[in-house]
Amino acid sequence: MKVAFTTPAVPSAGTIVVAVSEDRVLTPHAQQLDQLTSGALTRAMENSRFKGKKKETLTILAPAGVDLARILLVGLGKTDALNHLLAQELGGEILAAVNSSGEEKITIFIDAPGSEKISSFDFSVHLAYGLKLRSYRFDRYKTKEKEDQKPSVKEVLISTEDVSAAEKALEPLCAVAEGVFEARSLANEPANIIYPETLAEQAQALSALGVDVEILGEEDMKALGMGALLGVGQGSERESKLVIMQWKGNPDDQDGPLAFLGKGVTFDTGGISIKPSAGMEDMKWDMGGSAVVVGLMKALAGRKAKANVVGVIGCVENMPSGSAQRPGDIVTSLSGQTIEVLNTDAEGRLVLADALWYTQDRFKPRFMIDLATLTGAIIISLGAEYAGLFSNNDRLAEELTAAGKAVNEPLWRLPLGEAYDKELDADQADMKNIGAGRGAGSITAACFLQRFVNKVNWAHLDIAGVTWAKKDKSITPKGATGFGVRLLDRFVADYYESK
Ligand code: BES
Ligand code: MN
Ligand code: ZN
Repeated sequence: MKVAFTTPAVPSAGTIVVAVSEDRVLTPHAQQLDQLTSGALTRAMENSRFKGKKKETLTILAPAGVDLARILLVGLGKTDALNHLLAQELGGEILAAVNSSGEEKITIFIDAPGSEKISSFDFSVHLAYGLKLRSYRFDRYKTKEKEDQKPSVKEVLISTEDVSAAEKALEPLCAVAEGVFEARSLANEPANIIYPETLAEQAQALSALGVDVEILGEEDMKALGMGALLGVGQGSERESKLVIMQWKGNPDDQDGPLAFLGKGVTFDTGGISIKPSAGMEDMKWDMGGSAVVVGLMKALAGRKAKANVVGVIGCVENMPSGSAQRPGDIVTSLSGQTIEVLNTDAEGRLVLADALWYTQDRFKPRFMIDLATLTGAIIISLGAEYAGLFSNNDRLAEELTAAGKAVNEPLWRLPLGEAYDKELDADQADMKNIGAGRGAGSITAACFLQRFVNKVNWAHLDIAGVTWAKKDKSITPKGATGFGVRLLDRFVADYYESK
């Protein structure tokens, strides 16, 4: 799908989209069209429940007086509430309303009123961004789909007074969208296609954008002493990998880099502590955290962010087999601390333990932020709306929360604390990999990670509930969401990038 800008002129074919604000108030372009069609818009509204509420749509087919296939009315709601996010969501809803109609070409003719929160120029640009984000589709394995079942829209034109400025403003947003799509596709791919080696290959491909990529294999990790990560992968036929990506966008910066880490369990059977078979297929997206880190690196490199950023992903497959780790095994992590693995299904924390220690040791980063589909318990706490946030630093937590709010990838902070941490003390090793009982499972998991953070500012995002969506949302089709890419891109841009 191609998205471009055009100066306002009523097209002579295809679908035109015009806006109506709350209580059926036609915007000037909508009024103009109403006149050209002898009042078709007014009549259509009067004969429907369409009120112009935000994201409401109404289609008018083959109106007399113009050569258009259809007119789509889209509701803006209260115009003083319009902002960047709503512009994106309107873009997504417009695409969704037309994409199964057979129409190939749409022209969006929205004269956004321009509220205090958004200029009409930004409105057009963010409409385009939302359309783009919604246009993602994972259909590469659908070989029998009929042409008339596929999304039909091929070209979108959005009216704006300054076409070249709008195109320029859209460029960095498109780079972010490409990062989001990368994250979505990596997580959507099944585990027979994306396993540690192929996940690492996908990360390696970022070198085309100027990202330095290193891949460590099992021999390298054994030499380093990454017993926690290696123990998780030892039951799998697939070799475990640790991938280190570096984007050096600000060579003058003397401070340490920003570090992002991802859990990359390409399939989580639970290992010998095997999961029930119902729903186990969901565990192909247990590498969602690492997919976000790869997508983020792609976004930052794609828009040439002025920041030095390291991405580290721990890629393993958690399988039961004759060589698999057993419950009760004691492993020695890279930090030197020993871990009694009482449940082989609490594997993500073992992978991240070594990745965190490695990252702080080697890069002396300004902070570390890890993303992981770490616990089922976070889904019980927060469902699919918020991701869980844990941090040892209030400022970092506040910055992340604000960035999440700005892009509607919201975070909810949960506590850490000694009382929870104590649950991890073990009889025969320095710690065990699970808490004492069923309570506070996401918190004890975070406390476990914290034991591998050595006086570095750190935040952990438990994204188990938000990595996958069962329903379409305005700018996120169902399936893998890429939750975290837009959030962390925004976080870097707002707080850590030289202008
Ligand atoms: N990958 C899972 C967490 C998960 C569960 C993500 C459901 C998405 C949906 C993780 O490795 C896991 O199995 N965690 C266990 C920990 C427990 C054994 C302490 C869990 O949450 O049940
Ligand atoms: Mn598990
Ligand atoms: Zn897992």
